[in-house]
Amino acid sequence: MALSDYLADLDALAAAATSAFTAAADAGALEAARIEFLGAKSGRIKTVQKQLGTVPGLDKPKAGKRFNEVKTALEASFVAAEGRLAASPAPSTASAPFDPTLPGKRPRIGHLHPLTQTIEELTDLMGRLGFTVAVGPEIEDEWHNFEALNIPPSHPARDPLENFYLQAAGAATGQPLLLRSQTSTVQIRVMEQTPPPVRVISLGRVYRPDTADATHYPMFHQIEGLLVDRGVTMADLKSVLRLFASSFLGGDVHIRFRPSFFPFTEPSVEVDMSWHDTGHGDAIRWIEMGGAGMVDPHVLRAVGYDPEEVTGFAFGIGVERICARRHGVKDIRDFYRNDVRFLHQFS
Ligand code: DAH
Repeated sequence: MALSDYLADLDALAAAATSAFTAAADAGALEAARIEFLGAKSGRIKTVQKQLGTVPGLDKPKAGKRFNEVKTALEASFVAAEGRLAASPAPSTASAPFDPTLPGKRPRIGHLHPLTQTIEELTDLMGRLGFTVAVGPEIEDEWHNFEALNIPPSHPARDPLENFYLQAAGAATGQPLLLRSQTSTVQIRVMEQTPPPVRVISLGRVYRPDTADATHYPMFHQIEGLLVDRGVTMADLKSVLRLFASSFLGGDVHIRFRPSFFPFTEPSVEVDMSWHDTGHGDAIRWIEMGGAGMVDPHVLRAVGYDPEEVTGFAFGIGVERICARRHGVKDIRDFYRNDVRFLHQFS
């Protein structure tokens, strides 16, 4: 083969290969082009390499030099095409074309936890009855959790096994500290700082070393109410709690008081609320929701109030219980499992 013909074949090969490499739209097309032109066994470059033997002896060095140049250039051109495809992969042909008439995907919007919803609703409800919100610390001293509430050191409620005592003592007082076991502590804090009349609620976490089961949890929430003024009676307590129950649980809910004992109230009652048990022939069932009573004169004196001047009522109700009752939740542990399938029912 004459040198000029050989060089012409080389140029034609170079042009065809370069345009195939640059035109390859995806990795598959590029690989096919590589095999066609640069393939080690039967690529077109191999054929041209073999033809080098047919070029007359004196022209061989020229032909060989040009062959090497073309081969190197084509390899570089292939590598460049590979880089181009890696930087911007071809769009997948499997994806459906964009259809602007389809309905959009709604983002999943979060919501408040059912217990937080309950707390907000109860705050609102009691606010309409004139009760403002008071807050107290979750780490308490024995004065506010027990002593001022007329719970003496010998009382079983103060047993270290019934409470979460902390290792650290109060910095200023050196007195033992514990996680509050009831929101009644806030009654004391409010009365110590405010002269009567007072009309407050306090909602928050309390802690007791109970084993978790369907109705207990070592941390739970209470709503505490306190009203102190001249001439407050048990009838006021009952009417406030009746309104509370029927507003939150529905008009057909009733309340009932059972005589009980709490050191900080006299007389004391357990508060039950009724509900229709649809699972059992719609029978009326009563559930205990918390405790209440008339503030004990000892407590009023402990905070500097005069029990001859003012009287008051107080109540403490379990937030989990009342929330569970309203929504038919059977196990209060469900509130703490963080299972979105459960929680989403309250959106
Ligand atoms: N603190 C009580 C408890 O945790 C509940 C309670 C009872 C609160 C009577 C009160 C009350 O304010 O008057 O079991």
